[in-house]
Amino acid sequence: MKILAIESSCDETAAAVVEDGRQVLSNVISSQIDLHRLYGGVVPEIASRKHIERINQVIRQALDDADTELEDIDAVGVTYGPGLVGALLVGVAEAKAISYARGLPLVGVHHIEGHISANYIEHPELEPPFLCLVVSGGHTQLAIVEDYGKLRILGSTRDDAAGEAFDKVARAIGLPYPGGPEIDKLAREGNPQAITFPRARIDGAPYDFSFSGVKSAVLNYLNHHKMQGKEIEKADLAASFQQSVVSVLTDHTMRAAEEFHMDRVAVAGGVAANQCLRKAMKEACEKRGLTLYYPSPVYCTDNAAMIGVAAYYEYRNGTRHGWDLNAVPNLKLGEH
Ligand code: KG4
Ligand code: ZN
Repeated sequence: MKILAIESSCDETAAAVVEDGRQVLSNVISSQIDLHRLYGGVVPEIASRKHIERINQVIRQALDDADTELEDIDAVGVTYGPGLVGALLVGVAEAKAISYARGLPLVGVHHIEGHISANYIEHPELEPPFLCLVVSGGHTQLAIVEDYGKLRILGSTRDDAAGEAFDKVARAIGLPYPGGPEIDKLAREGNPQAITFPRARIDGAPYDFSFSGVKSAVLNYLNHHKMQGKEIEKADLAASFQQSVVSVLTDHTMRAAEEFHMDRVAVAGGVAANQCLRKAMKEACEKRGLTLYYPSPVYCTDNAAMIGVAAYYEYRNGTRHGWDLNAVPNLKLGEH
């Protein structure tokens, strides 16, 4: 079964062809990052306009790369939330047009379901149940993937998402958007023990996260040094901030693995590309005899291959959307 998948929830216009759920025949990503970098973050109106300009070419390329034509496609999968409403609408309208014109089933996918499903692409042996830490620019969630498309959320962030914290701290020390990969790079030259930043734990909610405290601590540190006319060591700051975020993410995940007797742990979302997080999770899992899964960096950040995988399992579970499918900017997990 071949699925044409479309993703346009933020600043990546992406299309992919995925066969039988796990085989990626093509994965085309047209990134708008260079454009948004001029403004220090994603400008929603520009994102929507660029999606419109690029989507047809991106889909054409995805079909060509997969050596396939629309006639060979069996279903269309598309991200319909959460994300920027104008950006999502472009993908949803395109998917509806193609499936209507060709009489194909239409399967709307939750973006986070897609991120989790990215783990299936390179790990054919991975099947639910497993524990998954989802860390992206908009989400931070710890969940048990009980079955395909069936999640039990153990905890979420109370304020900033992990990626958002990386982006805000990066901006404060003058690094370009998106800040996560920049901090990742700079931190390699710094000392993670140089500065002690807070590691938030929430009473009574051991799997919830909060990153606004560490973000404020970094901003206070910067202000304090500026007022005293002192130079800051940016690499040490990046490494220390990153260490504080990574240790909270890793500790929460290990605690959940223990409590819920999970022997397989997966990481997903843009921040899953972070070298320090991958290393810390690897060490923690090895110590406890757990098997760790994470996607290659290209499948961690936004892409349509992961949407194709999620759409396949949704399709198998019976999900079909009608022509009234709409973009849902704040779509909750588990809603259809
Ligand atoms: O999953 P994603 O591409 O988009 C959302 O669904 O939000 O995640 C983007 C986020 C951004 O905040 C970006 O800074 C962060 O992932 N990110 C990273 C790294 N690569 C991307 N954060 C830390 N280290 C990285 N290497
Ligand atoms: Zn994403």
